[in-house]
Amino acid sequence: MGKVKSKEHMKIIRQYAGSHAKLITLGRFIAAISAVLSLLPFYYLWKIIGVAVDGKDLDRIKKLAGIAVLLTVLSLLVYIVALLCTHIAAFRIQANMRSSLMRRIITLPLGVFDDEGSGKIRRIVNDSTAATETYIAHNIPDKTVAAITPVGLIVLIFAFNWKIGLICLIPAVIGFMCMMSMMGKDMQQKMKEYQTALETMSSEATEYVRGIPVVKTFGQTVHSFKRFKKTIDEYGKWTTDYTLHLRFPMTGFMTCINAIFAFIVIAAYVLVGADVTPTSADILNVMYYIIVTPLITIALTKVAYSGEAEMTLIDAVERVKAVMEIEPLTEEGSQVPEKKDIELKNVSYRYKDATRNAVEEASLLINEGEHVAFVGPSGSGKTTICELMARFFDVTDGEIMVGGVNIKKIPQDKLMQMISFVFQDSRLLKTSILENVRLSKPDASESEVMNALKTAQCMDIIEKLPNGINTVIGEKGTYLSGGEQQRIAIARAVLKDAPILILDEATAFADPDNEAKVQAAFEEMTKGKTMIMIAHRLSTVVNADRIFVMEKGRIKEAGTHDELMSENTLYKRMYDEYSRSIEWKVGA
Ligand SMILES: Nc1ncnc2c1ncn2[C@@H]1O[C@H](COP(=O)(O)OP(=O)(O)OP(=O)(O)O)[C@@H](O)[C@H]1O
Ligand SMILES: [Mg+2]
Repeated sequence: MGKVKSKEHMKIIRQYAGSHAKLITLGRFIAAISAVLSLLPFYYLWKIIGVAVDGKDLDRIKKLAGIAVLLTVLSLLVYIVALLCTHIAAFRIQANMRSSLMRRIITLPLGVFDDEGSGKIRRIVNDSTAATETYIAHNIPDKTVAAITPVGLIVLIFAFNWKIGLICLIPAVIGFMCMMSMMGKDMQQKMKEYQTALETMSSEATEYVRGIPVVKTFGQTVHSFKRFKKTIDEYGKWTTDYTLHLRFPMTGFMTCINAIFAFIVIAAYVLVGADVTPTSADILNVMYYIIVTPLITIALTKVAYSGEAEMTLIDAVERVKAVMEIEPLTEEGSQVPEKKDIELKNVSYRYKDATRNAVEEASLLINEGEHVAFVGPSGSGKTTICELMARFFDVTDGEIMVGGVNIKKIPQDKLMQMISFVFQDSRLLKTSILENVRLSKPDASESEVMNALKTAQCMDIIEKLPNGINTVIGEKGTYLSGGEQQRIAIARAVLKDAPILILDEATAFADPDNEAKVQAAFEEMTKGKTMIMIAHRLSTVVNADRIFVMEKGRIKEAGTHDELMSENTLYKRMYDEYSRSIEWKVGA
């Protein structure tokens, strides 16, 4: 593990700490004082043993012991002050990291959440920042103590009898070398692999839990989740390899730190010799070393842990950095268009890693106030083209203009104010209906929310809920059907009152009764607005000003229902088929 690298990470951390960075330095300094204070009692211990070996002055022993205890307590108190400093800094760093991450995440194109997986990002926001917090709060003072203690111990050991000191140091040095071999560059790589294996396993686990209903419905066993099992196996294999990799250095380290006692015996033998009667000074030193040498063990273990913690930190900071470095959607200007017509010029879009374009050279103009519909087979690119208009991602080729301004030049928040998007899968948040609707306009009053719900034909839903609009969705068995969720999502769009409305498949879930209600809601809310609707039920698009028919990413046909029906078009074939299916249903 390169020292330079760890310094770089501390630099990044100091940036997050801002003015609190001084507290880290202060914490280190105070921890150093505490470490020195904690070593002083051993000097008094040596004196106590000396007095005891002489076997007289009990009062003096009491006095010396009193000083030793006082110094120990003082060292502890000082250490608590050091912890206080680093904790305050750590909390600030964690909070700053999280808010920077959140601010960054908001600017990222929505596509990132498919590619990178929202589970992974969640783990970084939660766990990597928590790891950083732990490191700053606990490991920084510990590390300072771990660095000072061995130095202090070596001074102590050599101060009284350098011969015994030297012999006692042999196992300590060998142990330290074993430890360093475990902490090599290789280890940093291993740490990364470990974190990645954990991450993959956790996101596969989420997939697994999500998929349980499907698995059960189709009578499959859990073995159908091969991918999840594979990640568990890989994780298991990884940990086994890792353990095997460490077995020799770890055995060496543990043997050395536990063998220190044996070396004292050798030391005593060398010191006292077979034919010499030991003096009381010799006995004093041997006894003293029996007490002090185990401290080397403790000090070395602390050094070992501080190294491991540092690797966790480096990994955490790398991960946070990686999220912060994802390209956000750029804001190339600050123009706000007056008009709200939407124009696509030769727009193509390809999803990351896809082999073909999801939208292919699409050009169209939607006038302000026009009601248009997109229809076409599944996978033809309807959702993608609408998401591009709202700049969920940037086009791969071509341009999208709103009111004559390229949407890249419109500030994100201004563009979002212009557009309401009701998603194909409009999942509601686990909060009250009131808050769910209010999401689009946080300062809306309760009566405004009520009016929006009325416009979106949601009153029958509200009336049957135990706490009306304050009912929390997903709690105590309060669930809404797909069609009901869509209507709440529409209420959210109504409340936002944006001039452009995009409704993706808004009637897909609706049963016939709901469909009529949703239709009524649309008509009410879209008066005077530009509306773009994606629909599978062709009955809902008959009255559109214009219908765009998509196939394999291209806009194949455009026109009103009557125009399209008068020719032999893809639309006519789709419509005829649709009508037959309706008749078939009615006839059945
Ligand atoms: N996140 C994604 N990553 C990669 N490819 C995607 C992604 N989302 C969609 N696609 C692909 O892009 C193409 C267009 O998808 P899109 O969702 O726009 O179709 P759609 O017309 O809305 O379909 P549907 O009627 O089923 O909703 C499809 O081939 C689809 O597989
Ligand atoms: Mg779609």
